[in-house]
Amino acid sequence: MNIFDLNDQANHPRATDSDFAKLTDSLMARRQFLGASAGLGLGAFLAGAAHAQGTATQTAQGPRIGFKPIAANSADTVTVPEGYQWRVLTSWGDPLLPSGTSFDHATRGSALSQSLAMGDNNDGMSFFSLGKDHGVIAVNNEYTNYEHLFPHGRCASIDDARKAQAAHGVTVFEVRRQAGTWQPVPNAPLNRRITANTEMRLSGPAAGHPWLKTSADPTGTVALGTFNNCANGRTPWGTYLTCEENFNGYFGSADKLPDNVAFKRYGIAAKDAGYNWHPFDGRFDLGQNPNEPNRFGWVVEIDPMNPHSTPTKRTALGRFKHENAEVVLSADGRVVVYMGDDERGEHIYKFVSAKTFDPQNAAANRQLLDEGTLYVARFTAAEGKLSGQGEWLELTHGKNGLTPENGFKDQAEVLIHARLAATVVGATTMDRPEWIAAHPSRAEVYVTLTNNTDRGVKPNQALNGPNPRAKNVYGQIVRWTPDQGLHTAPTFQWDIFVLAGNPTLHRDLMAGTPNVNADNMFNSPDGLSFDKDGRLWIQTDGDYSNANAFAGMGNNQMLCANPVTGEIKRFLVGPVACEITGICFAPDNATMFVGIQHPGEARKPSHFPQGGQAVPRSSIIAIRRKDGGVVGT
Ligand code: FEO
Ligand code: CA
Ligand code: CA
Repeated sequence: MNIFDLNDQANHPRATDSDFAKLTDSLMARRQFLGASAGLGLGAFLAGAAHAQGTATQTAQGPRIGFKPIAANSADTVTVPEGYQWRVLTSWGDPLLPSGTSFDHATRGSALSQSLAMGDNNDGMSFFSLGKDHGVIAVNNEYTNYEHLFPHGRCASIDDARKAQAAHGVTVFEVRRQAGTWQPVPNAPLNRRITANTEMRLSGPAAGHPWLKTSADPTGTVALGTFNNCANGRTPWGTYLTCEENFNGYFGSADKLPDNVAFKRYGIAAKDAGYNWHPFDGRFDLGQNPNEPNRFGWVVEIDPMNPHSTPTKRTALGRFKHENAEVVLSADGRVVVYMGDDERGEHIYKFVSAKTFDPQNAAANRQLLDEGTLYVARFTAAEGKLSGQGEWLELTHGKNGLTPENGFKDQAEVLIHARLAATVVGATTMDRPEWIAAHPSRAEVYVTLTNNTDRGVKPNQALNGPNPRAKNVYGQIVRWTPDQGLHTAPTFQWDIFVLAGNPTLHRDLMAGTPNVNADNMFNSPDGLSFDKDGRLWIQTDGDYSNANAFAGMGNNQMLCANPVTGEIKRFLVGPVACEITGICFAPDNATMFVGIQHPGEARKPSHFPQGGQAVPRSSIIAIRRKDGGVVGT
């Protein structure tokens, strides 16, 4: 369950979009999507998928998906297909650094023990190989559940705030394989905790801007920490990208705050999301430090191979509620980063570097994300179509209305207020963009749009091509192919890969596209990643009530899709009240690592993974085929 979405919905109602955005959205609203649905048989749907073929290095039918799919369930465990096994790799609170202590179920640890241990609520992660049986995993620790972090259930002191801050951020830890089993290596040289208090550098066009300066940092270039690190990215030069999502919820104040259009758009207000850091740590008090939130909402680059390196916030990639950062190399060597902004009615972005990747020049690659052009997507479609065209609108100061008259004095202001800039240029409002995944061998990009109950309800969120359903509780996956097969191209062709839905209850578009059926249905696609063979893995963060609109869907789950045929099979079901988020593979793809986040949230009845009366703990699990083969085949 996305507590942040609910928090912002209740406490921080959204600013109204520009007249231009309203106009384009309301024009699109006149389309009759139900008519489109009636004519959309399986043949038509699969024909829509045909553009995926042709340039493929795959077979005509796409990658082999060989496992027997599993049924939905509501059990407090992980379920995987026959022939597979899973075990816990590491859980919240497991000690990783010298002097760390085992997780204490009575106290749930201290600020100190937490700073030496695996953080909470593991999310996006990447595997960096150090050899056949040795690697390092970097994993986000998105947030904490106070009902489990504290025996007393709330943040009531500076000690509590420090413990919560230590549970956030990123965990980097070495893993080794022995007798076929990957294990963490406690106290290994590359093990590191990055928390909400770790010193970081701000770089790129907005670094040093007056809006980034605070009394503690008059240079506007040194920020402390990272938090609400949702999903991730991985660069061709071997660094990890961690993405700051719902940063707004950590700031608050007892003071009355002046009206501020940007604060409103970003959901920053006197009432926080319940973390309660600001009464004890003045850095989070908006009355004292009104610029501190401008130092969050960025993509942060971390070198997992150097535990002494300074993480760097790359301002050229824009400031919003970042989900992940999918990095691809264009044919000419420029670096392209696709990014979603996860909130109802927000947008999809693309960064293109000015310079090219040079495999021979490691030092130069470290600067590639500091200089380039940021774009935001506009989607168009003909009446009643679930496919169409799109274009990337440039977010450069002085262009497309990004002028001082419209509130942007320079490029730094465009980047710090990227959401406001996106509205000025006429970006399409989307159904909560979550992860973006690029196909490993074709120029084809997929995005999860998790759900949006404001669609068709709020005036700035009328129905539009890729977001065709009002009060969309199920979500969809949209994909696009850049024109000429070039990720740097200014235009693209898009279609809908899957509308999630419940075909046992509905006959209209809420039933989903024909590749959804009673045996594989799901809601709220979120995590999304390709394996090296081109299988598309879909993770869900949705309603796990297994009732009403969601009857038959069970707990949150992971599915595997064939991007060519559209076929989708359920691979994994998680424990009670978790979401499935975070995925990476060992280099031989014989082991897959998957994140089980917040089992037992809101005191739901989970004791995963330990069972008995144990405190439920977010965990990374390792899944392998019993015969040692490639996962998914
Ligand atoms: Fe952290 Fe949008 O999920
Ligand atoms: Ca997510
Ligand atoms: Ca989500």
